[in-house]
Amino acid sequence: MEILADKHFEMPAAQLAVMVEDAYDRTLACVADLDDEQLTVPLAEIVNPFRWELGHCAFFYDIFLLRVLDATREPMIENGDNLYNSFAVDHDDRWHLDMPDRQGTLDYMERVKDAVLERLVSSQPDAQETYLHLLAVIHSDMHCEAFTYMRQTLGYAEPEFAGSVTNGNGAGPLPGDVDVPGGMFKLGADPKAHFAFDNEKWGHDVDSGTFQDRPRRSDQR
Ligand SMILES: [Fe+2]
Repeated sequence: MEILADKHFEMPAAQLAVMVEDAYDRTLACVADLDDEQLTVPLAEIVNPFRWELGHCAFFYDIFLLRVLDATREPMIENGDNLYNSFAVDHDDRWHLDMPDRQGTLDYMERVKDAVLERLVSSQPDAQETYLHLLAVIHSDMHCEAFTYMRQTLGYAEPEFAGSVTNGNGAGPLPGDVDVPGGMFKLGADPKAHFAFDNEKWGHDVDSGTFQDRPRRSDQR
């Protein structure tokens, strides 16, 4: 844990628990409306198998939170490192893994989530533990973004998230490009922020210049 020695922000356990549950619910909502055929996606450069993506989110909590905080703890799935570790399993190999089926994947996610919440009920995290919780939650949220663009890529409709309004315009890209004027913006982390990824650089001004982008239906919200 020396690597986390510079962490000083503590978040109340109850607040972290709400964030964990919110990220979990949102991750499930990313696939809830898809049938098994839609869940099986073709091999393509910017997508992952959807079951892999789900299991990978749970694995991240399992290995980089629960097992870091308690090294004596057994991983919550057998062979998880060879299934869901994105550093160990190359992208194209993710289509050829002996992964749990849909229900088995959801069960793994639920067991991991319950273990994380159980820990939060029994003790108040210190700053290092707070950082690990936030890291795992934000990691899940990033994969929700990935689900959203992967669904777009595959021509699926937008996922339906509780409390959000979709534009109801269906799936797929809109034709043509738009000119974006660009300009100066702050790229990188704010040193005063409660959380920043360790591989982020501190914020600095960047001029994006003008560029073109292809509008998507999800941009219309
Ligand atoms: Fe990831």
